[in-house]
Amino acid sequence: MLILVLGKGKTGSLVAEVARERGHGVRALDIDENRHASALTAPQLAGVDVVVDFTAPEAAVENMRAVLALGGHIVVGTTGWYAKVNELKALAIQRGGGLLYGTNFSIGVQKLFSLTAELAQLEDYKFSIEETHHTTKVDAPSGTALTLKEIILAVRPGIDVPVTSHRVGDAKGEHVVRAVSDHDALELRHDAHSRRGFALGAVRGAEWLAGKSGAWEFREIFGQL
Ligand SMILES: NC(=O)c1ccc[n+]([C@@H]2O[C@H](COP(=O)([O-])OP(=O)(O)OC[C@H]3O[C@@H](n4cnc5c(N)ncnc54)[C@H](O)[C@@H]3O)[C@@H](O)[C@H]2O)c1
Repeated sequence: MLILVLGKGKTGSLVAEVARERGHGVRALDIDENRHASALTAPQLAGVDVVVDFTAPEAAVENMRAVLALGGHIVVGTTGWYAKVNELKALAIQRGGGLLYGTNFSIGVQKLFSLTAELAQLEDYKFSIEETHHTTKVDAPSGTALTLKEIILAVRPGIDVPVTSHRVGDAKGEHVVRAVSDHDALELRHDAHSRRGFALGAVRGAEWLAGKSGAWEFREIFGQL
């Protein structure tokens, strides 16, 4: 399979490494080679099975528009663009392209999502979320924290779920979900020690997406990997 990685930053460079290790052909472009999605033309995408995007929110939207308009396939790890998710899902479906996106491609966080749905079943508890990331992260709260909140609200609509964000050094991503009652407290915690977990999930997602038409969030299809 030929994978085109957009973004040679902290995560994109690991995606390229993991994809090569798994036997895929890899091309990678950073902003100088792909400003405003300039490299995502039909001739440039010929032969590319899946594009993987770990760039920045605005760039990711431009990249998705270009790839999906051509009926291509794109895995989007970039967060902070979800106000446009319906438009981009519709474009994927209209053009017969494939879109797979997720706030967190790590396998451990997928387990945190399902445990959070279980925790949210508790009655008479107050829920809160705390996240810590590196100081160069653009969006706050993190996309993962927002997904955790969405999962709790799906079980308990209308409750207040405060989210606290911290930006510290090179922190790779910590998320804590707390449930506190008058009598006790529970905590679910996930700490990413390395970015390789995100990269592996994104490459496995790309392998799954190749040749499919439609739009999916990673947690919907995670069980099929
Ligand atoms: N979903 C997940 O599992 C997950 C995991 C880690 C990071 N992320 C997200 O991925 C994104 C990138 O994170 P990072 O830590 O790797 O950032 P980073 O800043 O280290 O790297 C981003 C790279 O993208 C490049 N870029 C910007 N516009 C581009 C364009 N049009 N074409 C090609 N390259 C372009 C930048 O020059 C930079 O090198 C962020 O939104 C982050 O929140 C998501």
